[in-house]
Amino acid sequence: MRIVCIGGGPAGLYFALLMKKLHPEHSIRVVERNRPYDTFGWGVVFSDATMISMRQWDPESAAEIEDAFNHWDDIEVLFKGTRQRTSGHGFVGIGRKKLLNILQKRCEALDVELIFETDVNSDLDYPDADLVIGSDGLNSRIRNHYPEVFQPDMITRPNRYIWLGTDKLFDAFTFDFRRTEHGWFQSHIYKFDDKTSTFIVETTEEAYLAHGLDKMDQDGSIAFCENLFSEVLDGASLMTNARHIRGSAWLNFNRLICGKWSHFNGNSHVVLMGDAAHTAHFAIGSGTKLAIDDAIELTRQFQIHGHEKDKIPAVLETYEEIRRVDVARIQNAARNAMEWFEVVGRRYADTLEPPQFMYSMLTRSQRISHENLRLRDKDWLEGFERWFADKSGLAVGNDRCLPPMFTPYRLRDVQLINRIVVSPMAMYSAADGVMNDFHIVHLGSRALGGAGLIFAEMTCVTPDARITPGCLGLWNEEQARQWKRLVDFIHTSSAAKVGIQIGHAGRKGATKLAWEGIDQPLAEGEWPLISASAIPYLRNSQVPKAMDRADMERVKADFIRSTELAIETGADWLELHCAHGYLLSSFLSPITNLRDDEYGGSHQNRARYPLEIFRAMRAIWPADKPISIRLSCHDWTDGGNTPEDAAIFARMFKEAGADLIDCSSGQVSKEEKPVYGRLFQTPFSDKIRNEIGIPTIAVGAISEADHANSIIAAGRADLCAVARPHLADPAWPLHEAAKIGLTSIPWPKQYLSGKTQYETNLARAATTAPAK
Ligand SMILES: Cc1cc2nc3c(=O)[nH]c(=O)nc-3n(C[C@H](O)[C@H](O)[C@H](O)COP(=O)(O)OP(=O)(O)OC[C@H]3O[C@@H](n4cnc5c(N)ncnc54)[C@H](O)[C@@H]3O)c2cc1C
Ligand SMILES: Cc1cc2nc3c(=O)[nH]c(=O)nc-3n(C[C@H](O)[C@H](O)[C@H](O)COP(=O)(O)O)c2cc1C
Repeated sequence: MRIVCIGGGPAGLYFALLMKKLHPEHSIRVVERNRPYDTFGWGVVFSDATMISMRQWDPESAAEIEDAFNHWDDIEVLFKGTRQRTSGHGFVGIGRKKLLNILQKRCEALDVELIFETDVNSDLDYPDADLVIGSDGLNSRIRNHYPEVFQPDMITRPNRYIWLGTDKLFDAFTFDFRRTEHGWFQSHIYKFDDKTSTFIVETTEEAYLAHGLDKMDQDGSIAFCENLFSEVLDGASLMTNARHIRGSAWLNFNRLICGKWSHFNGNSHVVLMGDAAHTAHFAIGSGTKLAIDDAIELTRQFQIHGHEKDKIPAVLETYEEIRRVDVARIQNAARNAMEWFEVVGRRYADTLEPPQFMYSMLTRSQRISHENLRLRDKDWLEGFERWFADKSGLAVGNDRCLPPMFTPYRLRDVQLINRIVVSPMAMYSAADGVMNDFHIVHLGSRALGGAGLIFAEMTCVTPDARITPGCLGLWNEEQARQWKRLVDFIHTSSAAKVGIQIGHAGRKGATKLAWEGIDQPLAEGEWPLISASAIPYLRNSQVPKAMDRADMERVKADFIRSTELAIETGADWLELHCAHGYLLSSFLSPITNLRDDEYGGSHQNRARYPLEIFRAMRAIWPADKPISIRLSCHDWTDGGNTPEDAAIFARMFKEAGADLIDCSSGQVSKEEKPVYGRLFQTPFSDKIRNEIGIPTIAVGAISEADHANSIIAAGRADLCAVARPHLADPAWPLHEAAKIGLTSIPWPKQYLSGKTQYETNLARAATTAPAK
């Protein structure tokens, strides 16, 4: 085969050398526009996994690379006058020039033809090539020649960064955060050879412009950064090797995804590799790793399918299929890490204390969890747990400290024993809105199961406010009496507190029980519906009446009566349901609220009625007990509310006296396209808690202690609500404690003999589990 790699970066060079080594008969050329040894950039970071495969595929170059590696374990963070360090993180770094030199030399030794100082225009410059590798980096001409084929999706990210170097040697991956009068700057610093460290400085567009960095030349920017980071530089200077960039050398990161990676141009097969096909932000340092992994995978596919020309289409297809998965995984983690650095100034730096700031930074990609941190640096994590427990008001001794999810939490005068909440879940099992033995056993057993706060399902303010005929209600004394039975049972038999979620179904009312057809209108016995606007939920749903002021007065009085009855039950906590497309949510969302009066249009207008209800409830609910608000923080549909809108509403509720925002999402429109996944709604809670400054509950796909601990520890929420896992296991918190080896969490005294056996069995299973 005749193979031409356009671009002699890590991707092109490594692929060329692997293919030549495996099949010396191939004619392989690498065409590079720069001179040999001439490159922009400083050090790159590798992972252990990539090194393992490089050793397998070409031990010669791997050995040289490993010789040149700088290995370090520690991360150090300078923040608000503190210097914190943790260990066990295992990075290796190498100079980009050194890496390319090793690869170039190895290519020469294997007889790969290296052509420098040749600027290629397109793949068509090489009509006799069987295979053209587009390894020409982010601004790939090869890719840009066929935009309709490769479908590049490039997003320019908002932050600015400048990639510098320094002679000062750092023995840890160092992050330094500095506040200026115009905002925060951060530097990412790591040593990559025995003389030099990479020094990347990053800030927001606003701070960059406010400091006039757009008008400064490179020397001006360097002087600015030297001054700002003088403490960490300790007299060392910064330098650039990007003199070819004219004007300001501050760049924006471009995130690239391609719809397709290969193409047949009539003569040759063309395939993208490395940065030409995808990019991953430097916050997790994986760009070079991805380029190398691409080169390895394409080579592996030739090994599997055969090195003949007619195998090329199958090779390219499986290469793309396999690499796409890994690239998406890394891009996801890189996105989380990148976004953390984009918002750090306005979200975390001013509000979090140094230990929590450090924790948040270490877990920014959400690939590193609480228990993972324990494996990396037990002493550091235990120190953090002690700090967190102390902040939560626990007496901290030398024993194993309670992990964050098991620390107590106080709101107004209500003290929760831990941070786990049984999330509200409709059970469709009431008659006439009255709680019965089912609810008492169901919710009572969850209280015995260890959660700190037990919510019952949405409890409706009138018969016509119910979702289904099986929903709970709180409009009469009998209902309040049965509710009180539950509250009394939980208070006398457990340490849990009880929350009532009060709501009105709005246009989603008068439907069948879930197991008879969720959201489907009742076949008989339906009642008239009301909503912000006269828009049915489903095509076959009843058209609701758009509420007029008289309806609003009536429904407000209903909410007030339910609140009064809730006081009689002795419950500890109220939640106002403003999510999931129900009545109050229908006012908040622009999809369901098309009103042109003072209750529609702007955020202020859309929130007017929900706030009116909230204020009326707050005025009578005891001052020592909290009220939370459940919001749909994302409608997941075009034209719907986004987390930005949710933050605006959260601020309004905060100003009206709400104590906490319970951050859910969706169920407002049937057109929604939610992106599910582990902890998928936690970012909304993180945003609202840290940007608006109000406590939050995170909810949604939180299914292990490790998830909850990571969320609470990083300050992404104050509490974690767990719904479906509590259906599967009423004692979810007690069992999760046992699974992480925490034996100090009390079980109900009646169940004590089960505790030791459960813990012993778990410990035995752990020691006899086959090694992975
Ligand atoms: C600030 C910053 C920090 C980074 N830090 C890290 C890190 O720590 N770890 C990490 O793994 N990655 C890091 N990266 C990313 C990394 O540099 C790239 O992801 C990696 O180099 C991709 O390799 P590549 O071979 O695909 O492309 P490149 O390395 O970009 O190579 C492409 C080559 O093609 C040549 N070329 C382009 N057009 C033509 C043409 N028309 N004709 C001939 N030649 C051409 C270019 O001169 C270049 O040599 C960082 C990037 C930035 C911007
Ligand atoms: C059966 C069921 C009923 C639910 N009913 C309610 C409800 O009454 N009120 C509410 O706000 N959310 C309700 N939800 C949503 C949950 O409270 C929770 O937000 C959601 O299930 C995501 O959490 P999970 O991933 O832990 O299940 C319900 C969820 C389930 C599974």
